[in-house]
Amino acid sequence: MQEQIKNIKTLDELAALYASVFGKNGTMTVRLKGMRDLDNDARAELNRENATLRELFKVRQTELENAALMEKLSGQKLDATLNPMPENRGTLHPLTQCLREISAILESFGYKCHTGPEIEDDWHNFTALNTPAYHPARDMQDTFFLPNGNVMRTQTSAIQIRAMEESGAPIKIFGIGATYRKEMDATHSPMFHQIEGLYVDKNITLTDLIGDVRAFLKQFFQMDDIELRIRPSYFPFTEPSIEIDMKWQGNKWLEIMGAGMVHPNVLRNCNINPDVYQGFAFGFGWDRLAMLKYNLNDIREFYNGDVRWLCGAGF
Ligand code: PHE
Repeated sequence: MQEQIKNIKTLDELAALYASVFGKNGTMTVRLKGMRDLDNDARAELNRENATLRELFKVRQTELENAALMEKLSGQKLDATLNPMPENRGTLHPLTQCLREISAILESFGYKCHTGPEIEDDWHNFTALNTPAYHPARDMQDTFFLPNGNVMRTQTSAIQIRAMEESGAPIKIFGIGATYRKEMDATHSPMFHQIEGLYVDKNITLTDLIGDVRAFLKQFFQMDDIELRIRPSYFPFTEPSIEIDMKWQGNKWLEIMGAGMVHPNVLRNCNINPDVYQGFAFGFGWDRLAMLKYNLNDIREFYNGDVRWLCGAGF
């Protein structure tokens, strides 16, 4: 029997032989049924024989299965030159990448990162910024008002106030975050992002402001030199106020940011003595800088959930 098992060539034949031994009326099955008539030695012998046979069947079955697999594999070919399927990897959203670059540059200049709430109270978003309730400059921004009198933050300038209230002067910070205004077209989204710089100390001048802005823009756009145009402007919380334009691609001027020297009333509102301290502030849309850097002309593309933003195929 043992030789017979070893010589079997196919799994089907093995199964047939197995059934003839261990099946319902198989030879071993019948012998096991008669076990009770045997003496102890004969029983032990039968048990051994039973176990050996089962083991032999198992071994032969594995051998035959392996042989069948090898045979199947030897008929197949693996073409290792085939290009792999394209892989969609996740990546950082371009706005996140930009924010990281901007933060790294400002931090290297000594500015510390601050944030604040997106639902802001009237004091931090307007009044402390020298824009009391009657002030016509409130109309400069199309504000989302909440029923309880709070607003969706219209400008990261609110973060300046919180930072100065918290730590007084001297202070050198940048505020980052989402801001909200009721406007929507190719260059405006109702939710956008701003970054705000604030530097208050004893001998700060407008020249320091322009120097930092120039150095920042040069690094961000990786340009050796940069041409800036400074225009007078108006913001309630800075005096004088300016707007900074940058020469873009050699021919056109682009408005990049608002800025100015912090208004004495703003310092006073944060318990800082304007006779001792003065400082500058600047603020810009970080989406806008990202649009310039990535050559986009519709801000809404950042927020449309296009998988190219999320999977990096576009960049
Ligand atoms: N908060 C201004 C705006 O949103 C920008 C600004 C910031 C201007 C700081 C001056 C100083 O338009």
